[in-house]
Amino acid sequence: MKNNIVLIGFMGVGKGQIARKIASRTSYYAVDCDDLIESLVNIKIKKIFRDSGEEEFRKLEKRTARWLEKNVSETVISTGGGFVNVKNLHKIGSIVYLHADFDYIIQRIVSHPNAARKIKKRPLLKSVKDAEKLYAARLPLYKKVADVTVDVTGKSVDEIASEICSLYQLIEN
Ligand code: S3P
Repeated sequence: MKNNIVLIGFMGVGKGQIARKIASRTSYYAVDCDDLIESLVNIKIKKIFRDSGEEEFRKLEKRTARWLEKNVSETVISTGGGFVNVKNLHKIGSIVYLHADFDYIIQRIVSHPNAARKIKKRPLLKSVKDAEKLYAARLPLYKKVADVTVDVTGKSVDEIASEICSLYQLIEN
């Protein structure tokens, strides 16, 4: 049994922060798919998109998904917003969809102290209009693959982590 928890959801919803919070409070580790991809090819996501294109990035996501399925257990995995499209998602672990409305997510990103950096490193956030279209296209996918949906609206990272820990009966330190 792998016992992994896979956090999915739109860019900026807080997947990485929540994964790390859960790890800090339990015996689980946290890994982030974008970090794995960057370390695999030793190139930043932004540069992969710019120099090799989105298609190449999606191939790397699929390769990472196969690696996670084979090698990782007892881990909270934060994913990129498009990772929902990999075929073996359910073989990696239980899927938690972190949901919030588009406006809430954008507000969360732009009000962050590091907003400029957060936007800069995400090629698909260049235009708010395009990002909104992407959100509308992704929403049904997230809902379809989710084992559990957690609405993150108005909640702190601590509250969301607690909710997930109790859902999966993770023992907190
Ligand atoms: C993407 C989301 C990003 C990153 C890449 C593509 C997407 O991750 O994987 O820029 O397709 O939604 P975050 O969801 O962590 O921002």
